[in-house]
Amino acid sequence: MDYFNYRNNQLYAEDVPVTEIVSRFGTPVYIYSRATLERHWNAFNDGLGDYPHLICYAVKANSNLAVLQIMAELGSGFDIVSVGELERVLAAGGDPKKIVFSGVGKLKHEIERALDVGILSFNVESQAELILIEKTARKKNVVAPISIRVNPDVDPKTHPYISTGLKENKFGVTTDRALQMYQHATSSSHLCVEGIDCHIGSQITEIQPFLDALDCVLALIKQIANLGIHIKNLNLGGGIGVTYDNETPPHPKDYSQAIKQRLEGYDFKIILEPGRAIAANAGILVTQVEILKTQADKNFAIVDAAMNDLSRPAMYGAHHQIISVQQHTRGENKLYDVVGPICETGDFLGKDRELAVIENDLLAIRTAGAYCFSMSSNYNSRGRAAEVLVDGKAIHLVRERESVTDLFKDEHLLK
Ligand code: LLP
Repeated sequence: MDYFNYRNNQLYAEDVPVTEIVSRFGTPVYIYSRATLERHWNAFNDGLGDYPHLICYAVKANSNLAVLQIMAELGSGFDIVSVGELERVLAAGGDPKKIVFSGVGKLKHEIERALDVGILSFNVESQAELILIEKTARKKNVVAPISIRVNPDVDPKTHPYISTGLKENKFGVTTDRALQMYQHATSSSHLCVEGIDCHIGSQITEIQPFLDALDCVLALIKQIANLGIHIKNLNLGGGIGVTYDNETPPHPKDYSQAIKQRLEGYDFKIILEPGRAIAANAGILVTQVEILKTQADKNFAIVDAAMNDLSRPAMYGAHHQIISVQQHTRGENKLYDVVGPICETGDFLGKDRELAVIENDLLAIRTAGAYCFSMSSNYNSRGRAAEVLVDGKAIHLVRERESVTDLFKDEHLLK
């Protein structure tokens, strides 16, 4: 079931024609579907069922307050990587007791704030960070809950830029180092061991790498237990892939089932940190065709969205489906490179796409709910797109389009 589908040759987002949103808010505009977000979150939550668990939505995928609010209302936890994400979660009504804090470079003031609000756990990524968290907790006379992020040296078979669990990646620590860190943590009166953590990468389309990572973590847990240290939470991170084109990632239910099977007989609480699998297919980016530039051996559809709005094709060579908002045959069917107006050859949203379009037509870039708006920028002094969330027939503007004056309101002319 797809909440973005055609009725009478018109693309709908849930029960709203996309053209209606465009006529109210213009283009480029991100459109999110509440029902899809909820369905995806529930797929993980139901998949783990009675097994003690917490789904910590990875905020970086899509950090719009309304999206976080929906997650909070579902009872979700959150995986954050900065104090900015922490404040967003709190502003959206998220429960601090369900927040895990990941990232290799947590700053002192970020650790302080996380201690003040009382998060569930710091996912610690180095010995130096463990010491910094301990020092900060001691100063405040509190106890910091920690999990050590282990790097299991498993190949997730994904794009090299989003692989994190290989030993050459900057994330996590080796199992030997993890053991030393657990020993340190248990001997400290300002650290408390909550769990163990790993995250091997993103857009992973097979279950096996996750199970290999889990086996590595379980072997380490045995060694930790021999030291008399008890692990409560086992955090397997995020990383489940989605279908952009013709990938066939595991369904969250099958993934959860496989993990539960492997963990039979253990009494951990499983924590998962899915981002993309929840948000990616809950969003589209709608853009208008501005200019058709046709030449002997190449056709360009120049649209009003660009790499500043959606950088994944430029950054990772990522593929996003591009479809017409109104299905008609006014234009001749041709192969187009769909490109933005930015002065970079890398500014493309899709290459060699078969489209029948004329100028002013609307296109929708699919699978744009994760790592699209959240990675957008103001490059070429372009304001960021508006964001709209659809809930059945209801349309909510959840972020205003950035105006040109917004762009330089914090800059100063020389005095
Ligand atoms: N947990 C940790 C510690 C992470 O680093 C990430 C993603 C996640 C969870 C969520 O992973 P997911 O379930 O979304 O795969 N910008 C890239 C993706 C970067 C992912 C970074 N870490 C992209 O557009 O493909």
